[in-house]
Amino acid sequence: MKIAVVEGDGIGREVVPVARQALEVLRPEMSFFPVDVGYAVWEATGSACDDEAMRDLASADAILFGAITTPPDPDYRSVLLQIRHQLDLYANVRPVKGPGFDIVVVRENTEGLYSGIEWTEADRACTVRVVSRRGSRRIARYACGLARGRSQLTVGNKANVLKSDVLFRNICLEEAARAGVPCSTQYIDALALDLLMQPSRYDVIVTTNIFGDILSDIAAYLVGGLGMLPSANIGRRHALFEPVHGSAPDIAGRDIANPVAAVRSAALLLAHTGDAAGALAIEHAIEAVFSRGIKTRDLGGTAGTRAFGEALIGELSRLARR
Ligand code: IPM
Ligand code: MG
Repeated sequence: MKIAVVEGDGIGREVVPVARQALEVLRPEMSFFPVDVGYAVWEATGSACDDEAMRDLASADAILFGAITTPPDPDYRSVLLQIRHQLDLYANVRPVKGPGFDIVVVRENTEGLYSGIEWTEADRACTVRVVSRRGSRRIARYACGLARGRSQLTVGNKANVLKSDVLFRNICLEEAARAGVPCSTQYIDALALDLLMQPSRYDVIVTTNIFGDILSDIAAYLVGGLGMLPSANIGRRHALFEPVHGSAPDIAGRDIANPVAAVRSAALLLAHTGDAAGALAIEHAIEAVFSRGIKTRDLGGTAGTRAFGEALIGELSRLARR
């Protein structure tokens, strides 16, 4: 199995190596190859992700991804969005798990407000929010597939205001009925609050692109912040795994970033390849390190990225030998 590794920029370069090591310990047969994309590459070459890099990404069985800083260029389009579009990674899956709750935010990942259809006029700028039947159908099916093995589905929407969300909500309800999945709908603003107040009420939440972006950051509050949340970007042919956080230039290079989100993203990669035991081993190792009081600063600890990483890899190696 060939894994493309994109460290990217900022703290991506510090947290991805820990995630990669975790994979190396658990799956020695995996092979890894670096793909250089991001702001630093843009500075050096004028292109943040050229055709060759895109081909390399497409050739991998899975992609382990860090984070990319957005270059200060008015014509620039986010590299991550380019990759999601080109590889058609239509499902963005963000599990949020803690004592008493087990939530998965499933976000449509290719259209909505991120359709890329936008322009600037003299006195205004316009972005078109595209919600297609096909796009809604496939994300609804994906979310129903997840919810079927669990308990229920909530459709986060703003159908009281947006026609595009009437379509999205209706298709989700149809698919849930077809799949026999208990399903309810909730306005996204009310859902954002209730998720924090009563997280145990939720299971799988499906929503459109930008609502899912915002909701998943909000949900990070439940688990100690963005340093903790992983994500999977899934398509029919390709899959990319990345922390929910960005490149965090303000703390980059200081050995203080929390690598848990990246390591958990590696766990999602393992689960995606059918290795549920490997994914579970990563969770157990994280728990074991926490229970020894080893935490990074965002969680109130004093461990640096490297020290936390070493403790984690130590735990994993012990678990792997058993
Ligand atoms: C995320 C990020 C991205 C998004 C940015 C970096 C384009 O915020 O993955 O949540 O908005 O999807
Ligand atoms: Mg985001």
